[in-house]
Amino acid sequence: MSFIIAVAGKGGTGKTTVSSLLVNMLAGRGIGSVLGIDADPNSNLAEALGLKVKEDIGSIVDAIAKNPGLVPVGMSKDRFIDYRIQTSIVENDGFDILTMGRPEGPGCYCYVNNLLRTLIKNIADDYDYIVLDNEAGFEHLSRKTMRRADRLLLVSDSSEAGLRAAKRIIALVKELEIDIKNIALILNRTHSIILSDKIQELGVEIAGVIPEDENLLNLSRQGKSITDLEESSKAFVEVKKILEKILAR
Ligand SMILES: Nc1ncnc2c1ncn2[C@@H]1O[C@H](COP(=O)(O)OP(=O)(O)O)[C@@H](O)[C@H]1O
Ligand SMILES: [Mg+2]
Repeated sequence: MSFIIAVAGKGGTGKTTVSSLLVNMLAGRGIGSVLGIDADPNSNLAEALGLKVKEDIGSIVDAIAKNPGLVPVGMSKDRFIDYRIQTSIVENDGFDILTMGRPEGPGCYCYVNNLLRTLIKNIADDYDYIVLDNEAGFEHLSRKTMRRADRLLLVSDSSEAGLRAAKRIIALVKELEIDIKNIALILNRTHSIILSDKIQELGVEIAGVIPEDENLLNLSRQGKSITDLEESSKAFVEVKKILEKILAR
């Protein structure tokens, strides 16, 4: 069974940054196959890692919905979609990326979420490590797209809104009885742990504290990818520590 690390939290708090660093570091360790799943239609995990998405699952589903004739004679629609999804996976040195995207057709969104659920079960089992970059909302949780994870990393800045989102996700995970072995908080763009009541109230451990990293800012300004981030960069150093803790258990 693959080891699933899910990353969730409010939009803009650093989910994709953390996810892409984890994918890159896991790949660099050579401890097994790595799949990054971009489940957030508003961002781009592949791009963060310097890769181009050929086609996302949303557009595959849309294309087939618009033109059912695309499905070869003698093949079921589901098998064809499955085949197209397999070929949409972007392969790189040490890791693969699967991009969910957002379908436009009516009913397609639900369909894609059902697919994601099966994908996480099937395709995902072919990989040793999976990093799931979640959508900012709680859609994936409420649709039970993700049924299990070994780690849920909640990314938050030290703002009220960020912590509130983390709190809501924790509540939802419990309510939906999603099988998550460990939930931990990552405080991003924060200098020191402000052990406010709000954080303590969450009742989860703190996986790490990532300071503001000017190198990250420069990367996005220059349109470079996370793979260009120097290993001495603050964010790199901290995420590496987080990963080491995760792998040690
Ligand atoms: N620790 C950090 N220091 C500086 N910039 C950061 C840091 N974490 C994230 N960012 C920047 O913040 C922006 C949003 O981060 P991102 O990972 O895309 O958030 P999310 O995926 O949660 O929406 C990006 O431009 C990213 O480079
Ligand atoms: Mg994102």
